[in-house]
Amino acid sequence: MPLAASAPSLTASPLLFFPRLVEWQRRHGRSGLPWQGTRDPYRVWLSEIMLQQTQVTTVLGYYSRFLERFPDVRTLAAAPQEAVLALWSGLGYYSRARNLHRCAQAVVEQWGGAFPASAEQLQTLPGIGRSTAAAIAAFCFGERISILDGNVKRVLSRLLAFDGDLATLAQERRLWALAQDLLPAAPSHDEMVAWTQGLMDLGSSLCSRSKPDCAACPGTGLCLASAQARTGEFPVRTRKLKRSTVEWWWLLLRRPDGAVWLERRPAEGIWAGLYSLPTYGSRAEGLAAFGGEPALRQEHETLRHTLTHRDLVLRPLELDWSAALQEAPGSACAAPGLWVQHQSDLDLGLPAPLRSLLERLLPA
Ligand code: ADE
Repeated sequence: MPLAASAPSLTASPLLFFPRLVEWQRRHGRSGLPWQGTRDPYRVWLSEIMLQQTQVTTVLGYYSRFLERFPDVRTLAAAPQEAVLALWSGLGYYSRARNLHRCAQAVVEQWGGAFPASAEQLQTLPGIGRSTAAAIAAFCFGERISILDGNVKRVLSRLLAFDGDLATLAQERRLWALAQDLLPAAPSHDEMVAWTQGLMDLGSSLCSRSKPDCAACPGTGLCLASAQARTGEFPVRTRKLKRSTVEWWWLLLRRPDGAVWLERRPAEGIWAGLYSLPTYGSRAEGLAAFGGEPALRQEHETLRHTLTHRDLVLRPLELDWSAALQEAPGSACAAPGLWVQHQSDLDLGLPAPLRSLLERLLPA
């Protein structure tokens, strides 16, 4: 009996995946995004950093505001960190913004204001990991180099039925090497652009974690996991991310005119360098620092916020600043900070849950 034409051929070379994905990206992949029409490393780098852990639709507005304020790497390098954090506010993962700023300074100081033109050199810069360096080098310089971010690990481990445990460095290195082996000997710049974008597009659309659409995928007939109906088994990763819960009491100190006191967070740790409310590990500790129970005006609704490794439980306690002053004049507002009275004062680097709380509490 002849084989049906669509029967998956498990002997097909994985090298066929490159032209298939390039073609698929050109027809069906994302196009017209503001960072796609350029080979300017500053613009591509900025988009890649913003797009780490953040959806395209969210990034769009931030990207254009950021470029308007910081049109080139020298302007960004010369800006105060606070201005960078303020424009990043709401995107989360603020270490990205601090590294972005440091990276701009390194490009100016070490590279004369021009990003280096290879993945190897790009990787030496702050905040640019191996996959991001590869993406910038492929997009901007057409380098023959593969990316391998979280989504791409899923795509390629399925394509190759790669069953090494990606929690180990050795297996991760093997997959990097295999990703590189999928590239033809001398791809053109345009092909490297379409391939790199294609891996990203496939990983964020058809080759999803729980419901991959294998019928529509350019890897049909090449993908070993799909042919064996084992897409759910890849990627293999034994170590799970350990999560913990942190409970914070936030003191919302209110002046008689309605203003609220914000403090700058330390340079290290959660929300480093952002403005926040004075933070304590327990209710008793917080109240003791600022006037005790007599100063308490209101307990606001508990807020929950998810960080990479932690779930934050935030409990805002609103205190009467004048009562707090009378009861505890010594400790009040000793840390560096500022008063905000109106929503227009919130042009600052603020954690997202605090921004929404203050937008509800302060007048326009
Ligand atoms: N995620 C990371 N880089 C991206 C890009 N260039 N386009 C869309 N999503 C991305």
